[in-house]
Amino acid sequence: MELQTGYRSRQRIGYADTAQIQSYVFTRFPATYSVCLKIFENYLADLPITSILDWGCGIGTASLALSQLKKLEYFLIEQDNQAKDYAEQFLKHFFPENNVKLMPPDKVDLTVFSYSLGEVKTWQTILDEIWPKTNYLLIIEPGTPMHFGGLLQMRDYMLSKGAYIWGPCCHQKICPLAKDDWCHFSVNVPRSKEHRMLKNAERSFEQETYSYVLFGKEPKVVDFGRIISPPRIHSGHIDLKICSSNGEIIKKTVGRSAPHYKQLKKSQWGESVDDEMGNFLLK
Ligand SMILES: C[S@@+](CC[C@H](N)C(=O)[O-])C[C@H]1O[C@@H](n2cnc3c(N)ncnc32)[C@H](O)[C@@H]1O
Repeated sequence: MELQTGYRSRQRIGYADTAQIQSYVFTRFPATYSVCLKIFENYLADLPITSILDWGCGIGTASLALSQLKKLEYFLIEQDNQAKDYAEQFLKHFFPENNVKLMPPDKVDLTVFSYSLGEVKTWQTILDEIWPKTNYLLIIEPGTPMHFGGLLQMRDYMLSKGAYIWGPCCHQKICPLAKDDWCHFSVNVPRSKEHRMLKNAERSFEQETYSYVLFGKEPKVVDFGRIISPPRIHSGHIDLKICSSNGEIIKKTVGRSAPHYKQLKKSQWGESVDDEMGNFLLK
């Protein structure tokens, strides 16, 4: 509980003691790990990466998730030495083939700020320092309106530095959700017995919401748009909400008799929409 309160309110940076790290492993790690894995799975095929900087790595969540998918060279930056030791030990134990380095790199392919940049008041300075040394930069934050507000400022700042957005936005324009909504996605996280016990929870899974922005040095070939809320499947029609490459929100109801109905019924929150489907939705 203490961990959760400090984490949500941003009153504490890092972990108070070993017990808090262990509590993080059982209560927060499954969620942050699942979020990282989902984002990496979505984008990894497009990203030519062989090295990553895991900034504010904590116990190594992002590196561990990425290790599931790829063998890479890892650089870990973490101000909490105990957490950093855990990260190093976990990575070496579970992925002995990994090349783990505990120092800042000269240059990396991908830098990941997994739930870490929002903790830093001087985040502009960190971005100024890191951006010249990385080809891609991923910022992940909790999927709340408050954290999304912070992420939008980081998005604007990166755009002012000439970065290109690779996701989730399919455009570089002002976020159409900025005024009265927030862009977030969700992943289902299975809960272990220990997880349920520590959270005093009964359900065998939880839903973790998250927001993120991925930046690259070159423009991405963009899709028509992205599904930005859970598709609502009714009897006979589906309601979709899409953020388009024009930077506009499109709300569309698709009836059972429409040509792409079956395909759209399987569509998922967070998925991108290709041009063919987009042209159909615009009709
Ligand atoms: C909420 S935790 C997230 C840890 C991990 N990235 C994850 O996704 O599970 C934020 C981490 O950022 C680290 N951090 C915050 N400010 C930092 C700084 N200035 N330099 C290095 N690490 C920092 C904290 O110590 C903490 O481990």
